[in-house]
Parts: sequence; structure tokens; C-alpha cells
Amino acid sequence: MGGRTTLLVLTFSLAVLSIELGISHGCREKERKALIDFKRGLHDPSNRLSSWVGEDCCAWEGVGCSNISGHVIKLDLRNRRRTYLTEDCTHQEVYYLLDDDPGCNWALRGDITPSLCSLQQLSHLDLSGNYFPHKPIPKFFGAFRRLTYLNLSGTGFMGRVPDQLGNLSTLQHLDLSYNCYRDDEDLNALPRVQEIELSSCGLGTFPRSLSHVNFTSLITLDLRYNDINSTIPDWVFNITSLEYLYLGGNGLYGYFPDSVTKLTSPGTRLVWEYSMEELDLSNTHLSGSFPDWLGNIKNLKSLNLSFNSLYGSVPASIGNLSLLQHLVLCFNDLNGTISEGVGQLKSLVYLDLNSNSLSLSELQLANLSSLRYLDISSNCDSRKSETIPNWLSSNLRYLYLSNNKITGKVPQFFPKLKYLILSNNSFSGHLPARISNTMPSLQWLDLSMNNISGGIPFSYYLSSNKLVGGVPDSLCNLQTLESLHLRRNNLSGPIPLCLKSCTELVTLDLGHNNFIGNIPTWIGESLLYLKTLSLRSNAFTG
Ligand SMILES: *[C@@H]1O[C@H](CO)[C@@H](O)[C@H](O)[C@H]1NC(C)=O
Ligand SMILES: *[C@@H]1O[C@H](CO)[C@@H](O)[C@H](O)[C@H]1NC(C)=O
Ligand SMILES: *[C@@H]1O[C@H](CO)[C@@H](O)[C@H](O)[C@H]1NC(C)=O
Ligand SMILES: *[C@@H]1O[C@H](CO)[C@@H](O)[C@H](O)[C@H]1NC(C)=O
Ligand SMILES: *[C@@H]1O[C@H](CO)[C@@H](O)[C@H](O)[C@H]1NC(C)=O
Ligand SMILES: *[C@@H]1O[C@H](CO)[C@@H](O)[C@H](O)[C@H]1NC(C)=O
Ligand SMILES: *[C@@H]1O[C@H](CO)[C@@H](O)[C@H](O)[C@H]1NC(C)=O
Ligand SMILES: *[C@@H]1O[C@H](CO)[C@@H](O)[C@H](O)[C@H]1NC(C)=O
Ligand SMILES: *[C@@H]1O[C@H](CO)[C@@H](O)[C@H](O)[C@H]1NC(C)=O
Ligand SMILES: *[C@@H]1O[C@H](CO)[C@@H](O)[C@H](O)[C@H]1NC(C)=O
Ligand SMILES: *[C@@H]1O[C@H](CO)[C@@H](O)[C@H](O)[C@H]1NC(C)=O
Ligand SMILES: *[C@@H]1O[C@H](CO)[C@@H](O)[C@H](O)[C@H]1NC(C)=O
Repeated sequence: MGGRTTLLVLTFSLAVLSIELGISHGCREKERKALIDFKRGLHDPSNRLSSWVGEDCCAWEGVGCSNISGHVIKLDLRNRRRTYLTEDCTHQEVYYLLDDDPGCNWALRGDITPSLCSLQQLSHLDLSGNYFPHKPIPKFFGAFRRLTYLNLSGTGFMGRVPDQLGNLSTLQHLDLSYNCYRDDEDLNALPRVQEIELSSCGLGTFPRSLSHVNFTSLITLDLRYNDINSTIPDWVFNITSLEYLYLGGNGLYGYFPDSVTKLTSPGTRLVWEYSMEELDLSNTHLSGSFPDWLGNIKNLKSLNLSFNSLYGSVPASIGNLSLLQHLVLCFNDLNGTISEGVGQLKSLVYLDLNSNSLSLSELQLANLSSLRYLDISSNCDSRKSETIPNWLSSNLRYLYLSNNKITGKVPQFFPKLKYLILSNNSFSGHLPARISNTMPSLQWLDLSMNNISGGIPFSYYLSSNKLVGGVPDSLCNLQTLESLHLRRNNLSGPIPLCLKSCTELVTLDLGHNNFIGNIPTWIGESLLYLKTLSLRSNAFTG
């Protein structure tokens, strides 16, 4: 009896409590009005906010309320249909409409009314991908005292980042990327900030204000593509919590190794030696030999130094990076053998060495059983030819070897391979007849500009070889084939009728052969996706 009374009392007081808090409608009237006012200021061409009617604002698209207090705590209006946040929607719109993709048309536009300030408990605000061009970020965003997440990526905001954002003392994630700012913003302390995304913002310099952020909370700093031309300021090396540093696409002009050398001189050490997991210094005009000290960053998982002028060999110390998964060194001047260090990177999944002057024949990658992607295209020394290394991991999914003067037969020993790109080499002999059995996962085979001869058992890109005879019917079994290139061979006979069943074909290039007969009308009728058709320089009649 006593227990029952307690229960009743408890139920009763809960009911009173909920009435007092005003959550009987599901959302707070003041906040509902603020949202309605906010909606009124917006232009919503695709009617994304059509659910914003009725009493319960917590049920509206993109609005999230606290289960306990009923306050609006989340406003997620991200435009998930925008594919390229870099593009200006004033141009994109036309393109997207043509392509029947709503992209920019799905963007909310117009004015952000200060009524939004009524959402005092807001902790998550995402307006990314919407479009408010040539306007400054509203100052009143600095008044959301509970904000932990602010995403204004690709919204077209311009001008000075308001000082007031520096008052967001609870902010952890700040994404202002793909907008245009002047460099005099002052982000104050941001004492809790963990992530700052400012790529493609036209900053021109390292923002001075960042030197005030909390050096033991910042984990991610992304300043890619900001036309910065300077040394990396010393404060960057003081951020002990830094795990992801992206500085690619700026003009660091070799300054980076200098500042690091200074900081790694005896007695000092790189503070993020143990924290750093991803480092992107691609396309930053770095020059010099490959920095030896990189081998000290023990937890590194991804290193991108592509599009620089690094020369010499890759030092053996890189083999110390036992957790490294992505190593991107393409478009440098590295030469010599690919060091034994690289061969020790047991976790390596992705290795891009495209466009260097490395020696293929001495590749030591046999032990890299995790490797899935390998690009060593365009590494040939123009004087000498190489043979294909036959001890690459059989787990490879993607293998790119173009432009290397490689001789020998087309390899068949990669059972899991999806992409095999061998164009512009000196591969010779007949195509292996059972290639579709030995490499059953193959989706893309490019053998153009080689010295392959004989008939075609199976293939996609086979232009500029010495293929003879007719197009075999077996090709027609590849009903998902999107692209067939047979240009510049010696193929003859009529175009086989069965190609009709390759209904997914987008490109069909049969030019410069000896095909005969009429140009079949079914090409237009059955191949509905066909965009490129080349039949020139054949012996067609009619
Ligand atoms: C609120 O409750 C709903 C449904 O009971 C649940 O899915 C959601 O995760 C809860 N939200 C929070 C912030 O606890
Ligand atoms: C911000 O939104 C964009 C998509 O609009 C997304 O790619 C990005 O990861 C988001 N930033 C953060 C910090 O979550
Ligand atoms: C930001 O905080 C400072 C003091 O910390 C205060 O003087 C200023 O008025 C605040 N600005 C806004 C927009 O809240
Ligand atoms: C900096 O961040 C750390 C870790 O998040 C936190 O413990 C510390 O209080 C912050 N410092 C300041 C000055 O807010
Ligand atoms: C980068 O800065 C240096 C030194 O201030 C200057 O000499 C150089 O011309 C600048 N380069 C570019 C591309 O602006
Ligand atoms: C970096 O840290 C060192 C050692 O703690 C300190 O002497 C130096 O002033 C700091 N530099 C900056 C720019 O914060
Ligand atoms: C490496 O950097 C280049 C140039 O900035 C970029 O295009 C590429 O996507 C990056 N690759 C990886 C795997 O991060
Ligand atoms: C790193 O690699 C170098 C060269 O292979 C080696 O001498 C050194 O002992 C290694 N350091 C660590 C910490 O493993
Ligand atoms: C690598 O290039 C440098 C000059 O950039 C040259 O001195 C060296 O001999 C080359 N090494 C090899 C093995 O070709
Ligand atoms: C591969 O690993 C084995 C065993 O650890 C070792 O004996 C061999 O030298 C390694 N091969 C290469 C090319 O690194
Ligand atoms: C073919 O490869 C050679 C290097 O072996 C290169 O010089 C040439 O430009 C390449 N040709 C094409 C068309 O890519
Ligand atoms: C092409 O193969 C033939 C033999 O089939 C050979 O005589 C010729 O030298 C090869 N040409 C090239 C460029 O490798």
C-alpha cells in the first residue's frame, strides 16, 4: 500500500514538472517562433523546410531537442546534395539543373535572422552547403554559449570572421572551410576547440589568432589551399595534442624542414612526435632530400608529400613507421632504389610513387601483405627498360604501371586485382587466354600502347596494339562493360551483332581498323547510354 502511494505521488509530481518546463507541446513556444521567423528569412527553392509547420518543432526536419528539457539543441540543415563545396552556386545551378541534380538548388538562401539567438541551448549548428554569398558570418553566432559544433563549410560567407566567435568557449568543432575570409580574424582562446577546418578560405597567411588556441586540446588543423607563402610558425610545433595536420597546397618553400631541423636539434624534440597520425604537406614547394626525421613520428598513419621537389632516396628510417597505411610521394624527383625502409611498412595499404625516377626492378615490396593500391607509373629512366617485378603482393586490388618501358608478358598473378593499368609500355606476346579466370575480379584493363599481338579473349582498353581478326563473341558476355577501346589495331570483319547486349556501353571506339559492312542501326537503338562512338578510318560501306 505504501509503495503504491509513493508511485502515485511520483507520477503526479512528474506531470507537474513537465507542465512547468513547458514540454507538453514537444517544443518550446519561444523557440518555435524563433524557428518560424528564421524560416521566414530564408529562400527555400526546394521546399526543404516543408515539415516546419505545426506545434511540435522538435519533429521538424533538421531540428533536434533535448529529451530532458525540450530545448532545441541541434539544428542540422546541411545541404547533403552539394557535391562540390568549392564551386560557386551561381554557376553550379545551371550545370546542376542540366544534369537533373538538385545540388545548389537544394541550398537554403536569404538572410539568417537574429531571432535564432533565442535558441540559447543550441549545441550543434550545421548550415554547410547552403548559400549565403557575400555576407559576413552573423556576429550573433557568438552568443550560442553552449555551441560545441559549428559547420559553415561552403556557404559563401565572406569578409572578417567576427571576434564574437572567439566567445564560443564550449566550441569543439569549427568548420569554416570553402569560404572567403580576410586574415585579420581573432578567434581568441577557443579553450575547448579540437578541430579547426579552414581549407580553401583564401587566408594568405597563417591566422595569427590561432596561436591563442588551446595547445593541449587541438587535434585537427586543416589549412589546405589558402595561398599561404611563409614559414610554418613556431606555435604549430607547440601543439602537443595535434593528430591531424593538413597544410597541403600552400607555399611553404622548403621552410618546413628548416624549422623542424631547428626544433629537432639535440635537446629538443618534436612535441607531436607521439600524437601525429596524419600529415599532409603535399604541393607546398618543399624541396631538398627526403626528411629523415619523419621516421620519428611513431604513430603516423598517413603521409602525403606529393607534388613537391624532394630528391634522392627514401631514407631507411621510414621503415620505423610501423603503423603507416598511406604513403603518397607522387610527383617528386626521388631516385635510386625504393629503399628497404618502404619494404618494411607492414601496415601499408596505399603507396603512390607515380612520376619519380625510381628503379622498379629493385622494388622490395614482397612483405607488404596489406598493400591494396600501388602506383609506380612514369618512373622509367628513358634509357633503360625494366621487367615487371614478380613479387608484388598478390593481395593487390589496384596496380598502375603506365609509361615505364616494361617488357615481358602481361602479368596474371594477381587474383584479387580490379584495376590493371599497363598502358604505354613494351608488353608483348599474346593476351593470356584465361585472364578472366586468373584475375576474375578485373574491372578495368588498360593495355593500350603496347606490343600485344594475336586475338582478343577479353578486354577493355586495347587500342594501339597489333590485334587481328574479328571481335570475338565472348566480349559480348561482358554485359556491364562501359568502355571498349579497340582503336588502331588490325581488326576486321563486321561489327558483331551480339555487342547489342553490352547495353551499358558509354564509349565504343573502333576507329582505325579494317571493319567492313554497314554501320548497324542497333547501335543507336540498343546502346542507350552511348556518348562516344568512333568508327572512323574503317572500310564500312553505306
Ligand atoms: C531522445 O529519445 C529518442 C527516442 O526515445 C532517442 O532516439 C534519442 O536518442 C534521445 N536523444 C537523446 C539526446 O538522448
Ligand atoms: C562540415 O560539413 C561538410 C559537408 O557539408 C563535411 O564534409 C565536413 O566534414 C563537416 N565538417 C565537420 C567538422 O564535421
Ligand atoms: C565576448 O566576451 C567578452 C568578454 O569575455 C565580452 O566583453 C563581449 O561582450 C562578448 N561578446 C559577445 C558578442 O558576446
Ligand atoms: C585546454 O584543453 C585541455 C584539454 O581539453 C583542458 O584540460 C584545459 O582546461 C584547457 N585549457 C584552458 C585554458 O581552457
Ligand atoms: C614568397 O615569399 C618570399 C619571401 O617573402 C618571396 O621572396 C617570394 O617571392 C614569395 N613567393 C610567392 C609565390 O609569392
Ligand atoms: C613553444 O614552446 C616553447 C617551450 O615550451 C616556448 O619556449 C615557446 O615560447 C613556445 N612558442 C610559442 C610560439 O608558443
Ligand atoms: C595527397 O595530396 C594531393 C595534392 O594535394 C591530393 O590531390 C591527394 O588527394 C592526396 N592523397 C591522399 C591519399 O591523401
Ligand atoms: C629508425 O630507423 C633507423 C634506420 O633504420 C634505425 O637506426 C633506428 O634505430 C630506428 N629507430 C627506432 C626508434 O626504431
Ligand atoms: C639521384 O639524383 C641526384 C641528383 O638529384 C644524383 O646526384 C644521384 O646520383 C642520383 N642517384 C641515382 C641512384 O640515380
Ligand atoms: C620479408 O620478411 C622476411 C621475414 O621477416 C625477411 O626474412 C625478408 O628479408 C623480408 N623480405 C624483404 C624483401 O624485406
Ligand atoms: C609513354 O612513356 C614515355 C616514357 O616511357 C613517355 O616519355 C611518353 O610521353 C609516354 N607517352 C604518352 C603518350 O603518354
Ligand atoms: C614488338 O614485338 C616484336 C615481336 O613480336 C619485337 O620484334 C619488337 O621488337 C617489339 N617492339 C617493341 C617496341 O617492343
